[in-house]
Amino acid sequence: MTSIEIRQSFIDFFKTKEHQFIRSSPVVPNDDPTLLFTNAGMNQFKPIFLNHITPENSRAVNSQKCIRVSGKHNDLEEVGVDAFHHTFFEMLGNWSFGDYYKKEAIQWAWELFTEVWKLDKNRLWATVYEDDDEAFDLWTEITDISPDRVLRCGKKDNFWEMGETGPCGPCSEIHYYVGDDPENQDARGVNNTDEYWELWNLVFIQNNRIDENTLENLPAKHVDTGAGLERIVAVIQGKKSNYDSDLFLPIIHKIESLSDLSYEEDPIPFRVIADHIRMLCFSIADGALPSNEGRGYVLRRILRRAARFGRTIGLTDPFLFNLVPTIGNLMGSIYSELQEKQSHIEKVIRAEEISFNQTLDRGINHFDKIISKLNGNIIGGADAFKLYDTYGFPLDLTQLMARERDFAVDIDGFNSAMAEQKKRAKDAGKFKLGSDSIDWVIISEGTDSTFLGYETLESKSKIRRYAVQGDTILLVLDQTPFYAESGGQVGDTGSITGQGVILTVLDVKKENNSFIHICNGEISDSGVINCQVDIFRRYSIRNNHTATHLMHIALKTILGDHVNQAGSLVHPDYLRFDITHFEKITADEIIAIEKMVNEQILFNTELAISVKSFDDAKSEGAEALFGEKYGEVVRVIKIGDYSIELCGGTHVTRTGDIGSFKIIEESSLASGVRRIVAVTGSKSVEEMQSNSAIISSLQQSLSVSPMEMLERVKGLLAEKKHLEKKLKQKKSSASLDIDLLADASTVDKYQVIVKKVSTESIDELKEYGDQLFQKLSTGIGILFMQGEEKPSAVIVVSKDLNSSGILAGNLAKEIGSFMGGGGGGKPHLATAGGKDNSSVDSAMSKTLKLITEKLKG
Ligand code: ALA
Repeated sequence: MTSIEIRQSFIDFFKTKEHQFIRSSPVVPNDDPTLLFTNAGMNQFKPIFLNHITPENSRAVNSQKCIRVSGKHNDLEEVGVDAFHHTFFEMLGNWSFGDYYKKEAIQWAWELFTEVWKLDKNRLWATVYEDDDEAFDLWTEITDISPDRVLRCGKKDNFWEMGETGPCGPCSEIHYYVGDDPENQDARGVNNTDEYWELWNLVFIQNNRIDENTLENLPAKHVDTGAGLERIVAVIQGKKSNYDSDLFLPIIHKIESLSDLSYEEDPIPFRVIADHIRMLCFSIADGALPSNEGRGYVLRRILRRAARFGRTIGLTDPFLFNLVPTIGNLMGSIYSELQEKQSHIEKVIRAEEISFNQTLDRGINHFDKIISKLNGNIIGGADAFKLYDTYGFPLDLTQLMARERDFAVDIDGFNSAMAEQKKRAKDAGKFKLGSDSIDWVIISEGTDSTFLGYETLESKSKIRRYAVQGDTILLVLDQTPFYAESGGQVGDTGSITGQGVILTVLDVKKENNSFIHICNGEISDSGVINCQVDIFRRYSIRNNHTATHLMHIALKTILGDHVNQAGSLVHPDYLRFDITHFEKITADEIIAIEKMVNEQILFNTELAISVKSFDDAKSEGAEALFGEKYGEVVRVIKIGDYSIELCGGTHVTRTGDIGSFKIIEESSLASGVRRIVAVTGSKSVEEMQSNSAIISSLQQSLSVSPMEMLERVKGLLAEKKHLEKKLKQKKSSASLDIDLLADASTVDKYQVIVKKVSTESIDELKEYGDQLFQKLSTGIGILFMQGEEKPSAVIVVSKDLNSSGILAGNLAKEIGSFMGGGGGGKPHLATAGGKDNSSVDSAMSKTLKLITEKLKG
């Protein structure tokens, strides 16, 4: 069987057991702050297990895209070294939401393995949680597994938890012996050696982990199973390694052709690269981008790790991006986003490879230098940090390279160097919800948060529950016209009033399916309350949301198909849209985009908004934004033949409602990502009015017509430059034109000048010295200046005095010492410098005394 057939046969098997197929959720979860990446099939069902939402169907089956490189489940170190751990993998799963429990879960798993897929019973082992007698008995009673193949194991292996918090419970696993000596299997190998692979984990979800010490019972019991597709495919295809199955071999062959080396001879780099490229393609397709923080940094680490492994098989130029089409061909029929976003994924990967390549060689040199100077075998934290900070080496890359040479890295030292540098403000200030820790006061029972706000901006509602947190009141209603922040659109504001209730709604956020109104004001128990959304604010938001859809198409049309949404904010005052694009958007392109959007506004097209199945919407060509999780039923926003998008936001009735559209900012957000800010309606008119007011006041000051303004300003700038140059010349000749001999005194027949000049430039002082030397017939002149920080002097001596042994250089030394410094130079001209401007006056009188003595002598 091929991997495609195996995946499908799992799904079909559970469909025959009345399970509903649910699409994989994105690998980048956008609704669970406890996870960087989707790490298990059950993630998207967490709200069901926690009883926050009720499922449509109590049985589900899917194949979920998962990534395990951070948090509780992190397999990175094993990847490539062994044959069956991955950063990205697919988890086949079946679920019971309060429906069947241990018996069916065990029975069906055994049936699928041994009767459908015909795995060898003499290689299969089952484990149960140490005191789960029920599961132990079920294995021995309802399956034909040999009882000595059912093992009891401890918490580490047989109590599954999704993360630090969340749903969890005891589990039962099925393992498979892949070794060459089936006659000599040993129970002690299970969970301990690489010859026994865990294939399927059946979790009996009955608890919720609140914190390290607190485990709650859930109101109902559920089944959550996870079977690694890659391992099952390898086993069914009779391979010793996942990489030898049809899920990986085409990628490995492609790497072989790029490197001209053979996988057989040196498998690890091939495996690591094949693994990492899958992780990169799937995460970028779901909207992640490499960056310096959080999820983006995980992508960067993985990409750099893959690039470094490429070096070890001679791939020194960017090469990873060449593997993207291979992944698209291999898996695009199951995960269409890989093909839809293919050129975007290639561009992102290539740009990141180029930027890393620029420092990679220098980093490797620096690493070698560190190693060559090392006493002992531990690379210091500061060195590891320098590799990270200057050469872009993620810590795990440095560790990996260190390990290859039997060195270790001082991680604590690295972390403290990092902490010192990391004074950057963390993403704070957001009002964090987490209803588990909120003390709700329940007012009425029943479903909550029916959203009325597509049709109306006011309603009569009932309070379901509320909570007081300091000055803030949180409120959940049976039905509400207030939109809760989602899909980039901000939450509504407005008022809620009733008997004993006067509330200002400041924001609305969604938690699971409940809309939490964040309010200020007063509340006491109440019957019916009146909700009123701030109408004008909502109208502005609506304009900006529809304008975002119009602009999205305009961007793709004007800039090209590579443009993808990388972020969006729909605010009442503006819309902000981040896109993948690799150069600055030019002024002409901005004008073309504005023109296209404004044309659509003038067409005054009526929006067609409908609700249909995800598959129908996709087949009509609706664009799904990556990173969004869509249910089976989706809302489709269609603007004539111009645009069709899946979107839950609020929109105008006709495009003409938007009024007008103007881009006010275009900037770079990150490498390959541009940010556009635009305004609509009256804001856009205000923007144009204020621009035109600036132009007319400029026009008045310049006294020219608008058409001539540009020429006039260019002329003025050129004239200014010319005048500045002239002024400078004039100033320097004027300032030097002083009568240096004015206060000359005489000692015997010699002229003596000791004088302070007003300049701060040594060069000018020297020029004064030259002039004085020319004017001096016989004698000595010393000019002092107080500089910006330190004093200086120039000393000139007429040639006749040189022959009687008076030398400017010698005088400079002494004069310099009067100012706490020194000096020197030629016989006729020398300079002296001091330390303190305040020493100049006393230095002048000492100098006068000194030269009087010299001349008399
Ligand atoms: N949620 C379980 C796991 O990830 C099935 O192993």
